[in-house]
Amino acid sequence: MSGGLLISLSAIDEERWGVRTARASGVTAVHLPDVLAFCRQEKVVFLVARCAVSELRAAQMMEAQGFRLMDTLLYYSRDLTQPLPPVPDGVRPADAGEAEAIRALAGRAFRAYNGHYHADERLDRAACDAVYESWAYRSCLSRQVADEVLAAAPDGQITGFITLRLNGEEGEGPLYAVDPEAQGQGIGRALMAGALHWLKQRGARHMLMSTQVTNVPSQKVWTRLGFEPSHAEYTFHRWFDE
Ligand SMILES: CC(C)(COP(=O)(O)OP(=O)(O)OC[C@H]1O[C@@H](n2cnc3c(N)ncnc32)[C@H](O)[C@@H]1OP(=O)(O)O)[C@@H](O)C(=O)NCCC(=O)NCCS
Repeated sequence: MSGGLLISLSAIDEERWGVRTARASGVTAVHLPDVLAFCRQEKVVFLVARCAVSELRAAQMMEAQGFRLMDTLLYYSRDLTQPLPPVPDGVRPADAGEAEAIRALAGRAFRAYNGHYHADERLDRAACDAVYESWAYRSCLSRQVADEVLAAAPDGQITGFITLRLNGEEGEGPLYAVDPEAQGQGIGRALMAGALHWLKQRGARHMLMSTQVTNVPSQKVWTRLGFEPSHAEYTFHRWFDE
């Protein structure tokens, strides 16, 4: 991943996990001493750190420093200047009054999810589930969290959603899910098709998605819609009180 090192304290994580928490991305072997110095200076207890899979030296140095691998993220990109698939009926913007239904759906879909929080045995299971519920809820209510939330409601009842962000020519769908009992019926595909159109209509030239290497259903949906592999990252956790 390009873009250089970013490291900051996270107030939302500190409240969630009850310890001083920081997040770092773009970690390289060269940056790692700066990351550790930041954590010492800021008295960080829990660090979430990401590095490109191509930065194998950084990953090995983190292992030597007591960081533990929690997941591997694959990024896929779709060229929006190429023809897009049609959007099936029933995909439309969610309104603020549907925030609670979407929060509850996220809770069901992401229970015991294969992400980096659930992979860390030190983190409370219910609190890990709540990460996704809270993120989905805030996405419906705050344009600082998401520019739009699309809902799939083929029969009137919401069975899936995708949150969208637009950063100039790049669009992304940070969070997406289908209710467990409605999965495997093409709703994930319908939401992604809706997302591609929404972003293209607002000037994006490509859409970026990411998921754990273990998330086969997502990758099936995306590759069938013309997404191609872009890059990948490792997520490590480091607890400084151990
Ligand atoms: C990922 C997700 C949104 C896909 O939604 P969906 O409505 O089930 O998607 P679709 O029905 O369009 O397609 C999913 C495909 O994956 C397949 N699939 C489902 N579970 C699978 C598994 N464990 N292994 C392999 N394939 C699987 C489905 O059968 C389908 O393929 P098919 O058309 O050949 O049958 C949904 O599974 C989900 O919400 N999962 C939990 C939360 C999540 O992972 N969110 C995405 C984070 S990036």
